[in-house]
Amino acid sequence: MDSIITASYAVHFNEKGYEILNDQLVKNNYSKLFILVDQNTHNHCLPRFMGNIEGEYDFEIIEIEAGEVNKNIETCTQVWEVLSELDADRKSAMINLGGGVVTDLGGFVASCFKRGIDFINIPTTLLSMVDASVGGKTGVDLGSLKNQVGVINQPQLVLVDPEFLYTLSERQLQSGFAEMLKHGLISDANYWNTLKNVTNFNALDPLIHASVSIKNNVVVQDPTEQHLRKILNYGHTLGHAVESYFLESSNHELLLHGEAIAVGMILEGYLSYQLTGLSEPDLEDIKTTFLKRYKKVAFTKKDIEAILTLLKFDKKNSHGNINFVLLEKIGKPAIDVKVSSELMHEAFEYYAK
Ligand code: GLY
Repeated sequence: MDSIITASYAVHFNEKGYEILNDQLVKNNYSKLFILVDQNTHNHCLPRFMGNIEGEYDFEIIEIEAGEVNKNIETCTQVWEVLSELDADRKSAMINLGGGVVTDLGGFVASCFKRGIDFINIPTTLLSMVDASVGGKTGVDLGSLKNQVGVINQPQLVLVDPEFLYTLSERQLQSGFAEMLKHGLISDANYWNTLKNVTNFNALDPLIHASVSIKNNVVVQDPTEQHLRKILNYGHTLGHAVESYFLESSNHELLLHGEAIAVGMILEGYLSYQLTGLSEPDLEDIKTTFLKRYKKVAFTKKDIEAILTLLKFDKKNSHGNINFVLLEKIGKPAIDVKVSSELMHEAFEYYAK
């Protein structure tokens, strides 16, 4: 598969990707190389990664605890302390080998350490291959509030090796697939129709490539999310609030990111039907498609109130307004749409119906 060229780096795939990575490691002559992993990627992905590295390097492995609850500034501090103890300098580099938690947190740690060292993302989950590792968003959560602290800073290189997907559960794969479905909804009705019918996750390579291309086309036009990049947040305004609420509430089973934004995409589909002209058949298509793949979540009145309260922390807000990305039709988004709280309640009623 061809590499995807961004403004300042490239996303490479498979064996060719390892060749390019090996060349870059030689060329950049880093003073020290750190590999950030969690316990899962340490056990299941690091051996494959190391098996593809040529040359002799004294890699230092830094392991963090897995899971979104650990994507916080305390974990960053632990990693910064290890970097400092191990004499990392400005010519050191960090290789983030993991899912969205590792690539988001590792990118942030690297971007701040000594005011910035190079980092390379090797995503190991579908979610991080098609979304988190590409586009330069780095950061951590603040309590249960998602991605509140961070910077946009691009990696030196991203290497996508879909072999890592064999280490994932069906649930993890479906979670990542939600971001791919989003790519169809915001940019290409044909792509949406192709993805809807995918049941075999063993042949995802061309679709991963297509999704990264869609995301990259958006990010290169608007890297700092002033306008167009907002479309990548379809489903995320309500989806992130749902995810945060489930993260902080001990009464609820944890929702994976993709599962939360799948709820968000149905809710925001309803808002699109009411406000931006999404047709009823398109709305029903969105609801049916997501509910076929993701278990319906039960929300009490109290849950909905708490979720809507969390919206004030959404990063797209400005001047006290909550700005939604909605759809005019499948494949055509609309940005900065204001929505009343009454309509948001109706959206939850539609979801539950
Ligand atoms: N995950 C949305 C973005 O990177 O803009």
